[in-house]
Amino acid sequence: MSQPLLALRDLQLDFRTGAGWARVVDGVSLTLHAGETLALVGESGCGKSVTSLSISRLLPMPPARYSGGSIHVQGRDILQASSAELREIRGGVVSYVFQEPGASLNPVFRVGNQILEALQLHQPQRANTAEVIRLLKLVGIPAPESRVRDYPHQLSGGMQQRIMIAMALASEPKLLVADEPTTALDVTIQAQILDLLLDLKRRLGMAILLITHNLGIVGDLADRVAVMYAGQVVEEAPARELLRNPRHPYTQALMRSVPELGHPAERLRTIAGTVPAPGQWPVGCRFAPRCPVARTDCSQHPPRVAEVTAGHTVRCPYWKS
Ligand SMILES: Nc1ncnc2c1ncn2[C@@H]1O[C@H](COP(=O)(O)OP(=O)(O)OP(=O)(O)O)[C@@H](O)[C@H]1O
Ligand code: SF4
Ligand SMILES: [Mg+2]
Repeated sequence: MSQPLLALRDLQLDFRTGAGWARVVDGVSLTLHAGETLALVGESGCGKSVTSLSISRLLPMPPARYSGGSIHVQGRDILQASSAELREIRGGVVSYVFQEPGASLNPVFRVGNQILEALQLHQPQRANTAEVIRLLKLVGIPAPESRVRDYPHQLSGGMQQRIMIAMALASEPKLLVADEPTTALDVTIQAQILDLLLDLKRRLGMAILLITHNLGIVGDLADRVAVMYAGQVVEEAPARELLRNPRHPYTQALMRSVPELGHPAERLRTIAGTVPAPGQWPVGCRFAPRCPVARTDCSQHPPRVAEVTAGHTVRCPYWKS
């Protein structure tokens, strides 16, 4: 198979805390090929965002430190890259869209100028109004010729998120990292933004790393899914296979907590207990204190990764039961 666009191998990442270094990402391996969509799923605090920020080495060091493993983007070694190489990766290969468009857009500049600025930074030869309008059309902004003059507060949350996606596309990335891109939006708008991502993926052939805590949204968009818990990937499989045949008790619990359209959030089944904080991970299986089918030996030895079928792996020795 061709060289992957992204290859994370056994990544170990620590943060400095008051009590010393705490591991937050512990041996994560992920592979993404050109044009593929990988969903990274897990509850709050599992390490999804810090893993994704590592791809372009965006975490400030300190407090962060890489203590093992490797990251390659288009075959380039990110942990050894010079600042010039990192600029090239950030400017033309990997782009990010975050959860809160309101917080990322500058309230005092017109949205057209903000997209123009992104173009000037990454594609100066195409930094002109016609290109801004083309990008706005690409992300489905109606009447883009007049919207370029709007300030962020004149746009709805969904439209602001479309502007953020347009800014991320200004650099013509090969990989779009979308970190909870719809969490701050209401359900109908969420569906529209996910449709937009699906449409862009098909039209532009980009790879997408979609980060979410909601397994319910990955079915239509993702080719593969990696489920993260306490700094590790606990299950990975093609999306359809994972949704049809989840084998890890944590994945199964996440599936039971998928919000359904029309059901108020308070009726959601949540997973009892909380994700253990970095530095306080149990010695054996990290999910053991919350696992409904835990056995005595689960809390004694860290479980190894087992293969369910080709391409479907699970970090639980009892996946058959
Ligand atoms: N700058 C930092 N300094 C210290 N610890 C940090 C820092 N940033 C993140 N962490 C810790 O790393 C762990 C993983 O955080 P991360 O933001 O990746 O979680 P996440 O899975 O993206 O969660 P969420 O769904 O809430 O966004 C958390 O325990 C968090 O507190
Ligand atoms: S190893 Fe044990 S505690 Fe961990 S997920 Fe499997 S059954 Fe549950
Ligand atoms: Mg996050």
